[in-house]
Parts: sequence; structure tokens; C-alpha cells
Amino acid sequence: MSIQITPLTGSVGGLVEGVNLNEPINPDTFDVLHRAFLEHGVLVYRGQFLQPGAHVEFARLWGNPAQNNPLDPSVPGFPGLIQVTKIPKETASTEAWHSDSIYTSVPPKISILSAVVVPHGGDTMWCNQYVSYERLSPTMQRMLEGLRARFTGLRLARMRGIDQIPSAVHPIVRTHPETRRKALYVGHPDTAQQIEGMTVAESRPLLDFLYEHSTTPDNIYRHMWQAGDVVMWDNRCTMHYAVHDYGEAERVLNRITLEGEVPV
Ligand SMILES: [Fe+2]
Repeated sequence: MSIQITPLTGSVGGLVEGVNLNEPINPDTFDVLHRAFLEHGVLVYRGQFLQPGAHVEFARLWGNPAQNNPLDPSVPGFPGLIQVTKIPKETASTEAWHSDSIYTSVPPKISILSAVVVPHGGDTMWCNQYVSYERLSPTMQRMLEGLRARFTGLRLARMRGIDQIPSAVHPIVRTHPETRRKALYVGHPDTAQQIEGMTVAESRPLLDFLYEHSTTPDNIYRHMWQAGDVVMWDNRCTMHYAVHDYGEAERVLNRITLEGEVPV
């Protein structure tokens, strides 16, 4: 079967058909997937029922598995493979637009999720941060040039009840190291706290505007999970949002994140 890539929206996401991720991926296939990934930012593979060992093997094609938080439960026998389970809505740090671990100095570049048990609901949405940047006026683009913001893991710290809040400073426009395209690099208000050299009062309206601007319905793909789905995304040029509308229902997804680069 030949591999087929179909855009999922006009802005972000591509559906991959004709590939079995439980089997070794040959270099030609990887090349097709890699190009599609750089183009679409998010790749969706349906009906994979990816086995933990194959998940790790597939992830290694894309980079080095990132160091996980020791508080995250992993799949037995696969220390790099995190089990994402339901969390109470009140403390869900993922129910807001974000790039994974943006509050660390070297955030992971790619996340790969495999759906094991899915409830009704629990969709995930992605937005395209190249588009968010390109839709800004040239004057605003010039104004953002060189600006850096402090990002914090406030929600995560709250969720886990830890006092030490992780934080890092990154440019709010970053250049993707592979495509060389510029992408807006922002996050929800608990994360994107303040622009360096500005007061909070000066930063807040600008950061809030950039956040709202990034997440309009015409810049989004919304994935309705089915058991067996695999979805991978590029944290360097997308944000995502985990919708929590499934109450107490069970939801289990396996996740690997891959080491990234210092954003520039
Ligand atoms: Fe996330």
C-alpha cells in the first residue's frame, strides 16, 4: 500500500494513510512522513493500536526521548513512555492553549500520543503558529522582533501542589530550526507572564492579544480521538488544547516527547 497524506484543515494537520507504525519504518517512508510533518505540524494516523515497544522505536526515528518528570506514571517496562490518564477538570493544566513544557529552558520539540482508552469527548485541538505569525501586520511583526517573554509552569505547579514554579525566558517569535519559518511562540495567561523589559501592565494586553489571535477557529484542527489513533505534533510551530468534557470517564493515552532545541 502506498502512503497517502491528506490535509485535515486549511491551516493545520495532515492525515496519514497506508503506513503501519507497529512495523519498522524504512528510510523512504520516513522521508515522506518527515516532509509531511514539517508541512502540516500535526500528523494523524488512525487505527494503529501502537504497541509500547513500537511507540518507542517510532519515536526514536525523530529524536531522543526527553527526560520525563519523575512524577509522571510510565507504562510498565517502558520508562520513556508516559501514561497520560484523566485528571480532574479543576486542575487540568492542559485545558488551555500551550506548547508542551514551554516553561523549561529546552522545551521538547515533538510529542507523540497513542490513544489506548478514549471517552466520549476529550478531543484535542491544535493551532498553526506559522499562520498566527504570518497573519500579523508587518508593523506588529517588526514590533515583536527580539522580544522575549517569561513563561511559567504555574498551572502545573498548582495541579501538583508544588511550591517551586518552573520558568524560562524565550523569544515570542521563534525560527523553526528545520523549516526556517517564523512562528509565534506564546501561551495561555498563566504561562506567558511578562515580556522582558516591560511592566506586567504593558505586557498583559499584548500577550493576551497574541494568544487570542493564535486560536481563532480558522486556524485550528480538532481531533476526535478513537482508540488506536496516533497523533504527533511539532511544539515549535503549533499549540494545542486538551478539551476536558468527559467528567469522570476513563481516558488513557501513551505519550513520548522528544528533546528539542533552545528556542531562537
Ligand atoms: Fe500538552
